[in-house]
Amino acid sequence: MVDRYQRLTGTSVGRLLVKNLGLPDPVRLQRYQAGQPVLVGTTLTGGAGMLLPPALAAITAAGGDVHTARMHDVRYAGLVFDASAIESPAGLVALRDFFTPVLRSLARCPHVVVLGTTPERAGSVPARIAQRALDGFTRSLGKEIGRGGTVQLVYADPDAADRIGSTLEFLLSPKSAYVSGQVVRVSATVQTPQHRVADPTTPLAGKVALVTGAARGIGEAIVRTLHRDGATVVGVDVPQAADGLIRLMQVLSGDHLTLDITAVDAPQRLARALQERHSGVDIVVHNAGITRDKKLANMDERRWSSVIDVNLVAPQRITAQLLDAEIINPNGRIIGVASIAGIAGNVGQTNYAASKAGVIGFVDATVAEAAEHDVTVNAVAPGFIETQMTAAVPLMLREAGRRMNSMSQGGQPVDVAEAIAWFANPGSYGVTGNVVRVCGQSLLGA
Ligand SMILES: NC(=O)c1ccc[n+]([C@@H]2O[C@H](COP(=O)([O-])OP(=O)(O)OC[C@H]3O[C@@H](n4cnc5c(N)ncnc54)[C@H](O)[C@@H]3O)[C@@H](O)[C@H]2O)c1
Repeated sequence: MVDRYQRLTGTSVGRLLVKNLGLPDPVRLQRYQAGQPVLVGTTLTGGAGMLLPPALAAITAAGGDVHTARMHDVRYAGLVFDASAIESPAGLVALRDFFTPVLRSLARCPHVVVLGTTPERAGSVPARIAQRALDGFTRSLGKEIGRGGTVQLVYADPDAADRIGSTLEFLLSPKSAYVSGQVVRVSATVQTPQHRVADPTTPLAGKVALVTGAARGIGEAIVRTLHRDGATVVGVDVPQAADGLIRLMQVLSGDHLTLDITAVDAPQRLARALQERHSGVDIVVHNAGITRDKKLANMDERRWSSVIDVNLVAPQRITAQLLDAEIINPNGRIIGVASIAGIAGNVGQTNYAASKAGVIGFVDATVAEAAEHDVTVNAVAPGFIETQMTAAVPLMLREAGRRMNSMSQGGQPVDVAEAIAWFANPGSYGVTGNVVRVCGQSLLGA
């Protein structure tokens, strides 16, 4: 899974050009392969606070090796620093003291996580300031770390310390290969009692997952990944994509529905099928999306409305129907697919960017109602992902999109799918209201 430029930089001539011309130097990212342990290598932990004990428990439960003190002959694959007890700006020096000595001796594609207290819930003014400062620290380290490494910040509410496990597991594993510079908030918004996954290799066993736009691209990767994790998948796509959809669902022993999600009766048809054939649904992924690019000066009404209807109105109508009719089971998940275009904006995409910023609004606006049903709501915001959608982008724009991130490469559909599988994990009941970018820490909208 390397592009043409990456193949060139893998040759001796290419390496010489990269070195002498200061060109981007993409590292071949380590991604999760089914059957391998979720955590690879050894993680070093540091800091002191209420999040360290659950962090150690989560790493150990995922089969990871942990050191609480540095061993000089070990190249660490993971670093976790609990900064949640830092109570003043002066205390931030603990970050330097922990990270500086170890940064030169990390394994390839290392994963770094800083744990903090949600600033708004920190006790005092100096504590709140110090906790907020962690954001700039982690984003900068993400840009410095190199070697295909990732750096994230997890803020936990004081009453949600025991809910960080599935998030830490994802962020320390190769499943988050293309996620960096992100801030994840963990809260006690949803009341679900603590949930234990019986077999970590199939955390979604017994769950039913509805995925729209499942026939190809990111949607196909999502159904494959959720199936790998044990879910029964129900793929939805337009009638024109029926052949591919049916074939894929047969391979995955899943179910399918061919319908246009913008059809007036689509929400009712989906609700009925899920109720009658599966006794409800646990995970709803609103992945189907389209682009109809034109500068606003040339934008006809059809281009505008079709994009808003597919990307924004349909997910909202389907969600309303499924929540109202109580089709989504307790400890359920609603997952949107936004885009960095909805965060940064993009020339020729006023319609698309409005729809994708709207998806972020949909997450914000739905969290409280969904929590009453014991359901979380989150979204991924992909950056440049190698699919048929991005293959259609003009060459120079495409090359810029690929390289303008901390990884100097585009992501793969599976990178988006892995983030969705983390939201879907039954252990992620503390993760709601988040929009997590899967963009290799893109410079756009950073
Ligand atoms: N590829 C990227 O780089 C990228 C970046 C950011 C966000 N996204 C988002 O990720 C999602 C998937 O993108 P992709 O690149 O895989 O796109 P894609 O065009 O390859 O696949 C989209 C799928 O959605 C289906 N679909 C479209 N309209 C539908 C409708 N009305 N009803 C049912 N199904 C419908 C299509 O038939 C297709 O199978 C989209 O929401 C897209 O906006 C993609």
